[in-house]
Formats: sequence, structure tokens, C-alpha cells
Amino acid sequence: MKDTSRIGILGLGAYVPERILTNLDLEKMIDTSDEWITTRTGIKQRHIASREEASSDLGVKAALEALKDADLGVEDIDGIVTATLSPDHIFPSTACIIQGKLGAVKAAAFDVGAGCSGFVYALTVALGLVETGFENVLVIGTEAISRFVNWQDRSTCVLFGDGAGAAIVGRVNKGGVLGFDLGSDGSGHGLLTVPVGGSREPVTVGNIDQNRHFLYMSGSEVFRFAVRILPKTSKKALEKANLNISDLDWMIPHQANTRIIDAAIDLLQLDKNKVIVNLERYGNTSAASIPIAWVEAVKDGKIKSGDKLLLVGFGAGLTWASMVLEY
Ligand code: COA
Repeated sequence: MKDTSRIGILGLGAYVPERILTNLDLEKMIDTSDEWITTRTGIKQRHIASREEASSDLGVKAALEALKDADLGVEDIDGIVTATLSPDHIFPSTACIIQGKLGAVKAAAFDVGAGCSGFVYALTVALGLVETGFENVLVIGTEAISRFVNWQDRSTCVLFGDGAGAAIVGRVNKGGVLGFDLGSDGSGHGLLTVPVGGSREPVTVGNIDQNRHFLYMSGSEVFRFAVRILPKTSKKALEKANLNISDLDWMIPHQANTRIIDAAIDLLQLDKNKVIVNLERYGNTSAASIPIAWVEAVKDGKIKSGDKLLLVGFGAGLTWASMVLEY
């Protein structure tokens, strides 16, 4: 008989755009070097959406793969929660656009704005929806962040990439979500932001001239925040799951910077071989980074059904989110 107290992952999918932009390509565009980018971030290349692709297009492709993995059809989906900081439009939500493109006629749809923590935040929202009666909730992290990057600003443009990942959340027979931790510190909202284009500072010719419609980041402050929060939130989720760090099979951290991940692993005293890192090939894909890394590790035969996983994200807001689950 189905143990309906458990809620977990029914299927996973990911998609990255075809075009690859390498560090060597960037050397031809701005004053940077492969050596600087590699040693400071661990990134070697990133994928960039084509002119025709917006976040919803990437999200639809990841969603279709997750549905296939779960052996479900679009008609089986009753909720779509999309995490993105590079939505197709300020409104309507990217989730609604994805709902329309999929033809998921039974689904409620809305976005979650939690920066690079968005995918884990959205998983917890899906968990709540399933707990209160939804059946199959599609969670998508999708980013066409290249559209918001200032390609003249070497301190940010080398870091980011485009892509999408998706998961179907529903009732499972074994495993499922064991614990999670969410948090925010809005006093740091100005550290990572697109300043212009909202109701605080609408678009004008003047602020476009000042490049304020592009992503702005205070890199060193975000770096310090990430190193501090990553171990802290991981420990809280483990506590809630009643597990020790040694019980984990894999950690999938938000893929922002290898130096952030290495510092967090040291503080957590986690075996490096248990950490999924793929940012050398994708850069920071924000809300898409955790599911892209997850899908890839499953395809590579690293992560297997029954493994205990720790997902952990941090980013704009500032926000953080971690989740322990049995896959
Ligand atoms: N190529 C070459 N030089 C660069 C460069 C680039 N792409 N970007 C910056 N530099 C230069 C700076 O101008 C600076 O030069 P200066 O000393 O002459 O002024 C020097 O490199 C050092 O810059 P700094 O910003 O101190 O480097 P850093 O070691 O802090 O690394 C980041 C910068 C962005 C890689 C780092 O701060 C970081 O990873 N922050 C967190 C970013 C992040 O993960 N954000 C997303 C969170 S979701």
C-alpha cells in the first residue's frame, strides 16, 4: 500500500541552450583571462540562450524531460511553481507562460522570487501544496540571465550562464523530503540586484545610459555571506532531518564559485568526493544550477535512487535554502 505521508521527487529534467561561451571567447570580448576566471571562480565555460529563447522556453524543455522521467503527462500536473530571477516579463509570471506552452490545463501556476535559492524555495512550496491536496507539482528553476548581464562588466559577466532544471513533486512510496531550512536577510537586498525596471526605479533613458538596468553585484560581500550561510543552513536542515553530515551520500550546492563550495565543505567537514560540482561547464545558472547538477549526476550514475541528498542554495534577497531528502 502507498505510504502517503511521504512527499518526494517523481521525476527530474534539465535543459541548457546549445551555444557555449568559453573563457577564451570572453578574452576576446573584455579585459579578462582564462587564468583569472578559472582560479577565482572555477568556471571554464557557460551556455547562452539564443535570441529566440526566453526563460520560459528553457523551462518548458526541462519540464518535458521531468514529465517523461516521472512517466506523467501534462494533464497530470495540477501545480507549476517556477523559480527565476530572469523572468520573461515583470508580469505575468513565467510559470503561467510555461503552463500555456505545455497546455497543462489543470495546473495553477505562479513564480517564486528567491534568487539563486529559488529552486529549493520552490520545492518547499510544492511540498506544502502536495501536503494540502495537490497531486503532481512541477517545480522549475529557469534562467536566461545572460539578458540581464552587462557584457562590458568583467566582474560579473564571466560568472553567469543560462539553463533550466525541473522536478515533479508528489507522493512517494519510500524516501522523500526529510527536512529543510529557509531564511532571508533583506538588509542585503542591494548587494545583488537589477536596480532599474521595477516600481522603485522605472526605466528611463538616463538610467539606461548608466547601465542600471543590468545586474549589479557586490562580489566580495556576496562571497562572504555565501561562505557563512552555506554551512549554517546545511546544518539546520540536517538537524531537522535528524541526520549527521556523515549520513549524506551527496551534497548538491548552488554552483556559484568553487572557492565558496570548498570553504563550505571544509567548515562542514564533508568528504569532497560527496559534493556534486559542475560549474566549470555551466557557470552560475542561478535557480537552475541545483537541478542541472542533480540531473547530470543521476545521468552519470553518481546519484542513485535511495541516496540521501543535501541541496543547498543562497543568493539574491539575500536568501538561503537547504533541503535533505532521500531520492
Ligand atoms: N578578469 C580579470 N580581472 C578581474 C575580473 C575579470 N573577469 N573581474 C574582476 N577583476 C579584477 C578586479 O578589477 C580587481 O582588480 P583591482 O585589484 O586592480 O581592483 C581584481 O580582479 C580583484 O577583484 P575582486 O573583486 O577583489 O576579486 P575576488 O577575488 O573577490 O573575486 C568574484 C571576484 C566575483 C569572483 C568573487 O567576489 C565572487 O565569487 N563573489 C561571489 C559571487 C557569487 O557567487 N555571486 C552569486 C551568488 S548567487
